Amino acid sequence: MKYIGNKSNLLGFIEESLKSAAVPLQGTLTDLFSGTTSVAEHFKKLGFSITSNDFMTYSYVLQKAFIESNEVPTFDKAVESLNLRVSTTPAQAILDYLNNLAPQEGYAFQNYGAEGSQNRMYFTKQNACLIDAMRDTIQKWKNENLVNEAEFYYLLAVLIDAADHVANMSGTYGAFLKIWRSVALKRINLKSRPVFGNSRCNYAYQKKAEDLITEISGDILYLDPPYNSRQYAPNFHVLESIAVWDKQALSGKTGLRNYEDQKSDFSSKTKATQALSKIISQANFQFVVLSYNNEGIIPHEDLMAILKSKGEVQVFTQEYRRFRTERDHEKRKYKDMDDKTLEYLFLVRVKP
Ligand SMILES: C[S@@+](CC[C@H](N)C(=O)[O-])C[C@H]1O[C@@H](n2cnc3c(N)ncnc32)[C@H](O)[C@@H]1O
Repeated sequence: MKYIGNKSNLLGFIEESLKSAAVPLQGTLTDLFSGTTSVAEHFKKLGFSITSNDFMTYSYVLQKAFIESNEVPTFDKAVESLNLRVSTTPAQAILDYLNNLAPQEGYAFQNYGAEGSQNRMYFTKQNACLIDAMRDTIQKWKNENLVNEAEFYYLLAVLIDAADHVANMSGTYGAFLKIWRSVALKRINLKSRPVFGNSRCNYAYQKKAEDLITEISGDILYLDPPYNSRQYAPNFHVLESIAVWDKQALSGKTGLRNYEDQKSDFSSKTKATQALSKIISQANFQFVVLSYNNEGIIPHEDLMAILKSKGEVQVFTQEYRRFRTERDHEKRKYKDMDDKTLEYLFLVRVKP
């Protein structure tokens, strides 16, 4: 998934940095800003018991499906009630049932689809109408108890991933493209995804990091807060709508949701330093690991002062390709900068 700050290409760097500092790779790890869950999933595979969190609903859905759950659900009740023939797996049989629904002109079509009342070209008319049919059906199954909680989140996670794959945008939902990219013209396709089981208890949360930090403790706290002023809510609002499905009235050319409660202090120049300082001072963990970027809004000296107040600090760096949308290129934003930024990993051994 293309996501601002996605760490999938930095997992090796994070793991190797911890290994080189002789941090024991076992026990519990909390990923307080989980996003796509890439870091939580990596450490789950290494055997950690994981707690993950993010205040966005689409992230919570992914966490419930791929972090908290330890297996692909079996969909017993739905398979039986719908009288499905299972030729591969029950999950794929259910997903194929959803894939074969008749398209339906509903909320996604009107608000995010070409030819809808707003003509927002986030999805082709066919894909928007399929998303409507699929999302309404998943909700109906949940309301009628045909799927349990784990099954509901699994279906929703697969739908979010598949919708994101065919979305007509260049990296974020800040704007839709006016010309179709080739992948957006493909029919949305729900494909079952494996769930890694680690035989441990894992937990998913949808809270403000500032609140959750006061309730938890453990071995490793991994922090990957936003480092620039791009708020996630307006940049990933379409995924949020599919996850929440409250069908709220949207505003503006791009159809924004109301995101008053999902504004991050970490994306505010005046609030970020104080917000991080509070999290670090309240952290009840043996190790705190922070990902940050050399272009982040918290000045390096402030960052070091905050971390040093908690314990001994080690710093690791890796060159990294800048996150850019096609619009950034079009508008020639960053034209004077090169394509590389420096990714930092700070490790704090918390003093007793
Ligand atoms: C840099 S991204 C994390 C990326 C993630 N590590 C990954 O690999 O996909 C930061 C995340 O923090 C979340 N976030 C921002 N402010 C938050 C807050 N105050 N409490 C909880 N989550 C927050 C955003 O929704 C976003 O998903």
